[in-house]
Amino acid sequence: LAKVEVELASIPEGKNAIIKWRGKPVFIRHRTQSEIDEARNTDWKGLRDPESDENRTKKPEWLVMLGVCTHLGCVPIGEAGDYGGWFCPCHGSHYDISGRIRKGPAPLNLEVPQYDFSEGDEKLVI
Ligand code: FES
Repeated sequence: LAKVEVELASIPEGKNAIIKWRGKPVFIRHRTQSEIDEARNTDWKGLRDPESDENRTKKPEWLVMLGVCTHLGCVPIGEAGDYGGWFCPCHGSHYDISGRIRKGPAPLNLEVPQYDFSEGDEKLVI
């Protein structure tokens, strides 16, 4: 099993990083406090794919997910769309700052892969 390690210090707060993992893009966002608040204050039970932000993250400041639109697999664009998260230009799916589908044809939230933080929390291991 190929593991990828990412130095978290290399991703400033408020920025996205994209890495490759098993041939797929993985999005890592270092969220700001206001983004965390927005993600957590959303009434998620009424969403198309109902999932709490707490369920999607191990640490609130780090959002980790596959960069593969759940509609037909395009790579969404970061810091875009109507919900402050990601926008898929292929057919117009909007994802929020927790990667949850909010508008457009995609049926599911962006997938969260298995990951962990290394000892000392300096690295993310996917
Ligand atoms: Fe993303 Fe269709 S592949 S909206």
